[in-house]
Amino acid sequence: MAVASGNGVNTAQNADESEIVLSVRDVTVAIEDKLILDKLSLDIERGEILGFVGASGAGKSVLLRTILGLMPKQSGTIRLFGVDVDKASEIERLRIDMRLGVLFQHGALFSALTVLENVQVPMREYLDLPKKLMDELAMLKVELVGLPPDAAQKFPSELSGGMIKRAALARALALDPDIVFLDEPTSGLDPISAAEFDELVVKLRDTMDLTVYMVTHDLDTLFTACDHVAVLGKKRVLVEGTIDDMLKSEEPWVKSYFRGKRARQLDLAARA
Ligand SMILES: Nc1ncnc2c1ncn2[C@@H]1O[C@H](COP(=O)(O)OP(=O)(O)OP(=O)(O)O)[C@@H](O)[C@H]1O
Ligand SMILES: [Mg+2]
Repeated sequence: MAVASGNGVNTAQNADESEIVLSVRDVTVAIEDKLILDKLSLDIERGEILGFVGASGAGKSVLLRTILGLMPKQSGTIRLFGVDVDKASEIERLRIDMRLGVLFQHGALFSALTVLENVQVPMREYLDLPKKLMDELAMLKVELVGLPPDAAQKFPSELSGGMIKRAALARALALDPDIVFLDEPTSGLDPISAAEFDELVVKLRDTMDLTVYMVTHDLDTLFTACDHVAVLGKKRVLVEGTIDDMLKSEEPWVKSYFRGKRARQLDLAARA
């Protein structure tokens, strides 16, 4: 279960620490003197799909980039697989990076590379494999995400939006990661393609023992695919829990988001 504690207390202390894949404690991030995250805490347990939600501009992508080490934090601790990333040696950091898969919100694929070559980017970065083996491994990932084999030789401009998201997911899975970070993976997709993508994520979690950290605005995704939801507000995790917890929350933003007109329709449909 994801555990968030706005007061910085480690509420996961009684859980088996080895099962906590990601632990964020009291993380503060400022960009050019503007405070974006203020002592934010969040845990994600192995095998769970966490939906991370919050208003546009609240700092969801900033937190993701901070967790991935692409952005500096002012204070706080980030542990991945039990290792404090600030104290990790170069080799430890490399080992951690190899266990992470990422699908960024923007610029999902390199436009000058085919799908197969895109999937091979992390392999080239971290592994030294013969080309034939890399082709075979990348092809397996293309099939794993439900793309037809002929998509492998296509360029991103020749793919639909849904296929691009799948190809980007294949690249995120290139190194058989333990956790994948997906930033708005279904934005821009029609509801049917989005639902298919959600099903794929759940299937991969079930079959590959994956942990999934998913930033999303998509209520359908939150209701159908996520085990837990964490809400970013007031620069920290405001509320964390199951969808039922969200539906009971009296936080104004959470209430209007999860109990607004669109959400009520989804809730009724899910319970029918
Ligand atoms: N590189 C940057 N330089 C300056 N400000 C930035 C930078 N990246 C993010 N910000 C600011 O940080 C804040 C949080 O941005 P972020 O992209 O994390 O929001 P978000 O929650 O992901 O929003 P969305 O749901 O629209 O993707 C915003 O005010 C944004 O303008
Ligand atoms: Mg964002």
